[in-house]
Amino acid sequence: MTSAVILERGHGKAHNPKVVQLSQPVPKTNEALVKIKAVALNHRDIWILDGDYPHITFDSVLGSDAVGTVSDLSKAAASSNHHLKVGDRVLIMPSTGWLSNPLGPEDMAHYALRGGSPIAGLFTQYASIDQADLFKAPEHLTDVEAAGLPLSGLTAYRAVFTKGRVAKGQNVLVTGIGGGVALFALQYAAAVGANVYVTSSDEAKIERAKQYGAKGGVNYRNAKWDEELLKLTGGHRFDVVIDSANGANAMAIIGNVLGIGGALVSFGQTAGPFQLEALYFVRQIEIRGTAMGSRAEFEQMLAFVTKHGIRPVVGDVFEGIDKIPDALQHLRDAKHFGKVVITL
Ligand SMILES: NC(=O)c1ccc[n+]([C@@H]2O[C@H](COP(=O)([O-])OP(=O)(O)OC[C@H]3O[C@@H](n4cnc5c(N)ncnc54)[C@H](OP(=O)(O)O)[C@@H]3O)[C@@H](O)[C@H]2O)c1
Repeated sequence: MTSAVILERGHGKAHNPKVVQLSQPVPKTNEALVKIKAVALNHRDIWILDGDYPHITFDSVLGSDAVGTVSDLSKAAASSNHHLKVGDRVLIMPSTGWLSNPLGPEDMAHYALRGGSPIAGLFTQYASIDQADLFKAPEHLTDVEAAGLPLSGLTAYRAVFTKGRVAKGQNVLVTGIGGGVALFALQYAAAVGANVYVTSSDEAKIERAKQYGAKGGVNYRNAKWDEELLKLTGGHRFDVVIDSANGANAMAIIGNVLGIGGALVSFGQTAGPFQLEALYFVRQIEIRGTAMGSRAEFEQMLAFVTKHGIRPVVGDVFEGIDKIPDALQHLRDAKHFGKVVITL
């Protein structure tokens, strides 16, 4: 048997994470059995529990991020001279069905994220995964750090490089720096020599962000945060904004923060839906939507993280699979700075 956390249907739109016992999976052709060592949370898990996410599937195992070791290979896979062997420490691609198309998944009908969806997730002691979706974890990372890398690290990689095309010397703003994805975006953009500024609801988080390469930041709860930000840059507007808040922030970004022809790379709406006004075309702004990334980008991200020695920022660590419901509440309260990780 294996312990796992599934999505239990609740009342109305509020659902529950429930710890259950399931039979241990047996690897099918081309799969490997992975013994999960640590898992990490994403804001997506909260949207699912709140009934605000597409393709929610009840009784599906939750969770998109994990690090583990290969404990068994299917007979077909073991004899196919594949690159993996028993004992390898691996990261799991958090989605299935998107190989390499830079524009988006090759076929949306076959694209799915792991966890709380038709594809079983990773909040479990054992998962059986297609070997093509398994990658050796960067050696410089601890298990706790590695668990926090896949979904957020991939989303930030595509947002910063594929969509944002961030380069040395550019002014880049990353909003909501306490967030898991945002902290990767800061580290990636700083690693290639961009001038990175941040926003947060918490001055202490802005100070901590400076340890990861931020030049400064402002509190987005202040009504005139955009004007305060431009004071910090000496009036220089931004080339790229990496944003997951949307809502009222978006118009401040388009109206004041971005320079003429700048790019707003948008991957979420934590603060509410996007409200588009004509100003965006008057200022020649490019709005570039992005979501997660392909398997090819996942490999590129792992190589980039390894080359630059980037370490995921882990805010809080819980111990034991039965602590996952508490950890989810902690994420919901937004007390964290970086990833919330649970060791199994
Ligand atoms: N499209 C995709 O593929 C994709 C992938 C991953 C995540 N997302 C989305 O991106 C968002 C962040 O995900 P995550 O996992 O990084 O979440 P997270 O770790 O829970 O972080 C959320 C952060 O949002 C910030 N925030 C809240 N209200 C804000 C506002 N009004 N203005 C600016 N920032 C605000 C907070 O930053 P402070 O604590 O600094 O105030 C908070 O820490 C979520 O909406 C998620 O659904 C999308």
